[in-house]
Amino acid sequence: MEDFIRRMPKSELHLHIEGTLEPGLRDRLAARNGVTLPSRPAYDFHDLTSFLVGYYEGMSVLVHEPDFYELAYAYFEKAAAQGVVYAEIFFDPQGHTSRGIPFGTVIRGLRRAQLDARRVLGLHSQLIMCFLRDFQAEYAMATLLESLPYKDWIVGVGLDSDERGNPPSKFAAVFARARQEGYLLTMHCDVDQQDAVQHIRQAVMDIGVDRVDHGVNILEDSELVAEVKRRGIGLTLCPVSNRFVTDGTKSAELRRLLDEGVRVTVNSDDPAYFTAYVLENLVTVQQELDLTRDELVTLQRNAIEASWAPPAVRQEVL
Ligand code: ADE
Ligand code: ZN
Repeated sequence: MEDFIRRMPKSELHLHIEGTLEPGLRDRLAARNGVTLPSRPAYDFHDLTSFLVGYYEGMSVLVHEPDFYELAYAYFEKAAAQGVVYAEIFFDPQGHTSRGIPFGTVIRGLRRAQLDARRVLGLHSQLIMCFLRDFQAEYAMATLLESLPYKDWIVGVGLDSDERGNPPSKFAAVFARARQEGYLLTMHCDVDQQDAVQHIRQAVMDIGVDRVDHGVNILEDSELVAEVKRRGIGLTLCPVSNRFVTDGTKSAELRRLLDEGVRVTVNSDDPAYFTAYVLENLVTVQQELDLTRDELVTLQRNAIEASWAPPAVRQEVL
């Protein structure tokens, strides 16, 4: 089965590029840029909040445009070797602009890596810009405006970071403006967060997102399940990530969503931290749920259907 999963052309829709920073590259960039990291282990955590501390510390080694290029290109190489043919990658501009790194430095490095990955590895990708929900909505709005000169390089916007006390509704105006600007919309509704179902309801019903990142708690509300099915909204699940930040992979929930016909997909989230890229995530759920080949193909079809790939790319990777 692992061989079948490896050979299956795969799409990844939930991947934080800063979460692909492996310890080796992090330490090389730290030395190159004269950045001193805390001696505490960054890759040791037990929940979302403690994970995010190491995640933001880790990204402080990214300073110059080539650093962002190297980060992204290393991910693309890894993904291509696992059979990923299409990837939508999140980036967190505020994780960098808040440290004085210009927006243009970040996106130009990522963009150059995308073009090289397309040319050299045959891997298609698109960028999704995430706002950090633990910052003020005004800063998200300023970031949205800052992105507009690069609009052609960004397919949509998302919302990530610490969800506690930071509901989707806090960013309603930002997402309304993003929609007006032509961006597609997604948001993290992390697993087992406080008010998880209300957050999913706000994202789907009030903000009108096109996709939900995680969102497994939707199973607690059958009306919402029916609504996402009706609209064909995809849920980007991240099984191994769940094991680190909650109490397990939530594969039983994946099975229920799959059986209900919800457009669920399997993704890696922050693979350098959770030590599992998309292949390992798929192998994990296949083993836990004894998924058939047909079910694995359904997951991949869901990913393409829930993706924001342009028609030509869709056809090529289907
Ligand atoms: N930022 C990076 N990874 C994240 C995650 N798993 N949840 C919320 N914000 C994140
Ligand atoms: Zn995520």
